[in-house]
Amino acid sequence: MTRGPDTPLILGFPEYREPARRLAAQTGLDYADIDIHTFPDGESRVRLPQQLPHQVFLCRSLDQPNRKLVELELAAAAALQLGARRLTLVAPYLCYMRQDTAFHPGEAVSQRIIGALLARRFERLITVDPHLHRTRKLQDAVPVREAIALSAAPAMAAYLERRNDNPLLIGPDEESAQWVKAIATPARLDYAVARKQRRGDRDVRIRLPELAVTGRRVVLVDDVVSTGHTLAEAARQLHARHPASLSVMVTHALLVGDAMQRLQAAGVDDVCSTDSILHATNRVRLDGLLAAALFG
Ligand code: R5P
Repeated sequence: MTRGPDTPLILGFPEYREPARRLAAQTGLDYADIDIHTFPDGESRVRLPQQLPHQVFLCRSLDQPNRKLVELELAAAAALQLGARRLTLVAPYLCYMRQDTAFHPGEAVSQRIIGALLARRFERLITVDPHLHRTRKLQDAVPVREAIALSAAPAMAAYLERRNDNPLLIGPDEESAQWVKAIATPARLDYAVARKQRRGDRDVRIRLPELAVTGRRVVLVDDVVSTGHTLAEAARQLHARHPASLSVMVTHALLVGDAMQRLQAAGVDDVCSTDSILHATNRVRLDGLLAAALFG
């Protein structure tokens, strides 16, 4: 297909093709696939359209990031050689946000290192609910010219409003307060936040606040569920207080290993997530939110 240099293009990676295509449909932009071949030894061959316009959006969510980052770097470098001048990374889930400092001597501060790597090729970054803890601004983590951190909270609040069952929202730790409050406030829902002590990747302690849970529809809210230990520990304690139902709502459903079974065993009836990471629990689509940001 011939396309002029001034017609922006969205490029989608194989495992995130469907949301990338929806984003193109929402924005009316052209779309093309990036083709990836994995050689027997694990290396990747990355192939793009032969000629690219000046403005290109690369769309890939960065869960399971190590291989994806290498392929993204290959694609971005190639895009610049093939005619692109302005690259935007649309990464609904942004990886390597947790290590924003050296917690122990000798540790790589991966947030800053990966951020600098992305900023070498990309002018703009668009992501959703990045896990910024001690880092104040997304641009401090990823020093691109324009770093846009969108919030999934309005879309989640709208989803809960459609459910129309007046749930009680609970955040499992202090950091989740920002997301719980942002969802509860527009939907005018009750909310509370627990306290968490993390002792290791799979060892967390949660202290719930004193609140009446019996007979309520409780929704545990967090930005991300990974191993599920955080939400399972909160769910286990809430389940003992006899809620009418107990569900989980997260932006990013990493749900690694047996996380789903862990949540179910803790009494969770239902898990709902956005399509920032494709998963059977996806109920909230982000393409409208992302589309509005593309030319914002
Ligand atoms: C941490 O502060 C995050 O908001 C999540 O609570 C955490 O990453 C969840 O991890 P996991 O599911 O492994 O407990």
